[in-house]
Amino acid sequence: MRIIIGGALGRMGREVARAALEAGMDVACGVDIAYQGQPMDFPMVAAYADCKAAADVLVDFSRADGLPALLEYITTTGLPSVLCTTGYTDAEVAAIHAAAARVAILRSANMSLGINVLQRLVAMAARALGTGYDVEIVEKHHRMKLDSPSGTAGMLYEALQSAREYDSPMVYGRKGRAEKRAIGEVGIHAVRGGTVTGEHEVGFYGNAEEIILTHRAESRALFAEGAVRAAAFLAGKPAGLYTMQDVVTQVLGK
Ligand SMILES: NC(=O)c1ccc[n+]([C@@H]2O[C@H](COP(=O)([O-])OP(=O)(O)OC[C@H]3O[C@@H](n4cnc5c(N)ncnc54)[C@H](O)[C@@H]3O)[C@@H](O)[C@H]2O)c1
Repeated sequence: MRIIIGGALGRMGREVARAALEAGMDVACGVDIAYQGQPMDFPMVAAYADCKAAADVLVDFSRADGLPALLEYITTTGLPSVLCTTGYTDAEVAAIHAAAARVAILRSANMSLGINVLQRLVAMAARALGTGYDVEIVEKHHRMKLDSPSGTAGMLYEALQSAREYDSPMVYGRKGRAEKRAIGEVGIHAVRGGTVTGEHEVGFYGNAEEIILTHRAESRALFAEGAVRAAAFLAGKPAGLYTMQDVVTQVLGK
């Protein structure tokens, strides 16, 4: 299988190249606006418009402002594409959805298979445990992270909310509140410090018991491995919008 990597000079792009080679794929071309002839193990171009390589799938970890050129390239070539870049505006997400009518696109704010399995576990626990269990989400990231709470905490909250048949308002921290916790509310808390790659904990607190579901990312490699897995899933698929949940479904066989 031949893969094109967007953002190939970046931290994630380099991990994807490693993971793709390990999975037996060929890197047909790397695309990166910072490319100025740096020595690489595969052909490189600086813009999607200059990419003429034949490939089966594309994986992009670049920057949100490159989206128009990326969508132009994948809709004209029809190349199934795994879009992993984060920080898209609502209008950009709408443009991705529109492009998915013409080409297969898989997009997820978190490409880790583990996190996507955790989403299912959270939904299952929420359905089984019901209103008697209070849910709190705690996420931890390195000191350099700009946004909070993390997009992944949002994904876990969505999984919980969609499994519940009652309102689950999000509560960020509780400073200044002088009232007890409401049934159904979901507390979301962000810890920032050091070099933590990423930790997400969903706690179900009942009467005399606690169930804590935790995902701990130890390195960025897991996102690249998930992206390569998603690429193998997406190659040859018809136009449409896919997510990592479709990959989990394929793994589970249901
Ligand atoms: N979905 C996930 O699971 C996941 C995981 C990790 C990172 N990310 C996201 O992936 C993106 C990249 O992360 P990173 O840590 O590798 O960043 P990075 O800054 O190390 O790398 C980004 C690369 O993209 C290149 N680039 C920028 N604009 C471009 C364009 N228009 N066309 C081609 N290349 C372009 C840059 O020159 C750079 O080499 C970020 O949005 C990050 O949040 C997503």
